[in-house]
Amino acid sequence: MEYFGDRTWSTLSTSLLTLLVLWVAYIFVGMVEKFLITPMRLKRIMNRQGVQGPSAPLFVGNMPEVIRLQKASEEKDMKTGDYDIVARILPYHIQNCQAYVGDYMTNVTSDIIAKTAFGSSYKKGKKVLEQLFALVNLTNQRNKQRFATIPGYSIIPMPLNIKIILTKLAVSKSLGEIIQSRKDMVKGDNNAYGNDLLGFMLNAAMEEIAIEGGKVHFGMQSLIDNCKTFFLAGQETTSTLLTWTMMLLASHTTWQERAREEVIEVCGHKDHPIDANMFRKFKTLDMILNETLRLFSIVPVQNRQTLMDVHLGELHIPKGLALYFPRLAIHHDPTLWGEDVHEFKPERFVDGIAKATKHPLALMPFSFGPRFCVGQGFALDEAKSILVVILQ
Ligand code: HEM
Repeated sequence: MEYFGDRTWSTLSTSLLTLLVLWVAYIFVGMVEKFLITPMRLKRIMNRQGVQGPSAPLFVGNMPEVIRLQKASEEKDMKTGDYDIVARILPYHIQNCQAYVGDYMTNVTSDIIAKTAFGSSYKKGKKVLEQLFALVNLTNQRNKQRFATIPGYSIIPMPLNIKIILTKLAVSKSLGEIIQSRKDMVKGDNNAYGNDLLGFMLNAAMEEIAIEGGKVHFGMQSLIDNCKTFFLAGQETTSTLLTWTMMLLASHTTWQERAREEVIEVCGHKDHPIDANMFRKFKTLDMILNETLRLFSIVPVQNRQTLMDVHLGELHIPKGLALYFPRLAIHHDPTLWGEDVHEFKPERFVDGIAKATKHPLALMPFSFGPRFCVGQGFALDEAKSILVVILQ
């Protein structure tokens, strides 16, 4: 004991304390590095490449959310013979695909529709799209309200109604400015409004003025309304179709491989641009898109009202009757499609649509008749172009 005097003890305990502090500091720095700096760095690297993901709470990351989804999924019964196990075993994968693939698709289809409609002014077009989405969200909020169906409810000056009116005005103002600046640009030079959608509409309006001697039906308000229709009808629809297609190809990898083989055969490998002649050569992509549109009908119902008395077979449909077509239910009707109606089976379309079902009009994702979707060809070519790039 005489070797360890007070001084020695004090030096020893100071050293031990220093070691302890250093050890705690080391552990702390390690934890900060592992749980804060590294995840942030990894996220930044992925975000820079355009890959987004859910935000992760400190220390525990996404595990609690993964466990919660897993538990909720396992509590549900599975039907005998239902082999679609991805949603059951990997519910977080499905949730993330919907959230982030959906975001990506929304972005890319917004770019495409804005470019198609407004060509060089497409940045302003994207701003209009954002305003339109805000308007749709606000209107949906109002539709969910208890008294929304009461006539006149929408003009009561309540905060939500005022917000909707202001957003509507903002959309019309932005569109009006784009249209006016295009008109000013080519003043006096008819037929030179450009070869984007706005250009075609302006040329049509000018022709009308020339033919009708100054009477304009296709005036500023019509132009604004048509731009709104095209934006709303043409954006979310295609992005939803692409999101579902990606989901289905991610969980049915044999079809993903078949699609990729076809894409490589028709267009070649990465960086080979697609050209218009290639669209009609995609048999497998056609089958996959038809099956996706059948299973996940983007416009699930359709409403019509008769403008005159109609006799349909033995049925008399009086003028003014509201009709409701449950497109989704028709696409899921086993009497039309067979018992495998709820399964993803693109092969049912191998010999064309007519042979896939018992009724030639059973598949109608874009509707039929005089008001069928004018953007059908555009939407399908757009979807194929994007899928080609991803599959390549
Ligand atoms: C997967 C994508 C799409 C689907 C499933 C789809 C579906 C439909 C359906 C079912 C209708 C008829 C609605 C009704 O009769 O009440 C419709 C109408 C319309 N669609 Fe699409 N659409 C898609 C993409 C597009 C695109 C990309 C555009 C424009 C570029 C577009 C423009 C329109 C327009 C302007 C109408 C109204 C036609 C009229 O009333 O005369 N659609 N669409």
